[in-house]
Amino acid sequence: MAVAQGSALLHFSRNGAFGPDGAELLVLDRGEGAYVFDTNGNRYVDALSSLYCAQIGYSFGEEMGAVAAQQLQQLAFNTLWGTAHPPALELAERLAGLAPDPINKVFFTSGGSESVEAAWKLARQYHVFNGEPQRLKAIARKTAYHGVTLGALALTGVPAYKDVFGPPAIETRHVANTNPFRNPLQGEALAAHLLAEIEQVILEEGPDTIAVIVAEPVQNAGGCFVPPPGYWPGLRELADRYGILLHADEVITGFGRIGEWFAVERYGATPDLITVAKGLTSAYAPMGAVLVSDKVADPFYEEKRTLLHGITFGGHPLCAAIALKNLEIFEREGVIDNVNAHEAGLEARLQTLKDEFTVVGDVRGAGFFWALEFVKDEASTRLDADEREQLLRGYMPQAMLEARLIARVDDRGDAVMQIAPPLISDDQVLDEIVEKMRTVLRGAEDLILG
Ligand SMILES: Cc1ncc(COP(=O)(O)O)c(C=O)c1O
Repeated sequence: MAVAQGSALLHFSRNGAFGPDGAELLVLDRGEGAYVFDTNGNRYVDALSSLYCAQIGYSFGEEMGAVAAQQLQQLAFNTLWGTAHPPALELAERLAGLAPDPINKVFFTSGGSESVEAAWKLARQYHVFNGEPQRLKAIARKTAYHGVTLGALALTGVPAYKDVFGPPAIETRHVANTNPFRNPLQGEALAAHLLAEIEQVILEEGPDTIAVIVAEPVQNAGGCFVPPPGYWPGLRELADRYGILLHADEVITGFGRIGEWFAVERYGATPDLITVAKGLTSAYAPMGAVLVSDKVADPFYEEKRTLLHGITFGGHPLCAAIALKNLEIFEREGVIDNVNAHEAGLEARLQTLKDEFTVVGDVRGAGFFWALEFVKDEASTRLDADEREQLLRGYMPQAMLEARLIARVDDRGDAVMQIAPPLISDDQVLDEIVEKMRTVLRGAEDLILG
């Protein structure tokens, strides 16, 4: 069948949608700063950082290339399976230094899903070493996305992504996320309510059957749910009280997206495990990692104990060298300071869109990670299935392409538009993003409100 994508199957896409009579397939072949260019030379502002990855933007290819060439000439590859190589050792040291104490150990992977699965396996082995092999269950949150490999998929709280694939690999209870919109409870009262639900689930399941509580500091799916005050310290307290490990999935929020190296630092709790990927290399190479606290790691160092997990390419020297250069660029270019300097301005700009358009019912997020929720009237009524189909899969993709804007529209939860600009974006880029959003939202308002 002749289709626009040729022989490539597109991920999480309607593969039959593209072609002469269908949607235009965006094929990108160049990047610069916060911009990407298609094969026809059109310039787009990448307000999504290539799916939350391109923290430092696209202009460091030459520097990264030099590091990559040097590493490939010196040692193209070696594993971390009982041997090691300098870039991975150095990177582990750097990450241990950046992570909050007592997180001092690092297990490398090739991406986010692998990191989430590795965290689960480390947690399981920790409990077995501790004489608690019965801790086989997890608590995760509704609508949260933690990846697609079968273990990570079990933790993911999006039924539509799971049902096709049979029984989940990990028995998981999904609890309410921290969505504040339309919620009569706010702030500390909301945190208390959510924590009470989690405690109730722990007690129902049996506290000594739960291995892990996993949550993103700011939940992506559903649209940038920031935790209410006290929520993360409350998770920490519940985990400690019931002997459960706390896993912060920072695949999106890590590496500056929320104005800290790790977002948990902003929300006042130190987890036992942090998973990262995407921003670790700013996507100049594919890499992930699990950052592990001393408590979890120490039992693995006892005599004759083997860590029962390994990934051939985990910690690949090329990727490790690029990650090290990425961290150097972060510091040299003041990338995290840039996020903090522009966060309030970005929020204020987005609020103007809410003021201007009825179809924008809520603006929420933190750092350089924001969502607008679509509604159909002043009473914040949700869009129905037909309206979501028309808006999110009909109008928006083409309108964004025409506006030369890359952003995300999604309805795994309620209908949202999301942005996560490269962390090097300045006022001019942020103005441009918001102006393009304004253009697109005018059409959305006409479509939904008539
Ligand atoms: C929070 C979170 N965890 C895990 C993953 C899975 O990462 P990957 O697509 O690299 O496997 C993602 C991907 O977006 C994510 O957002």
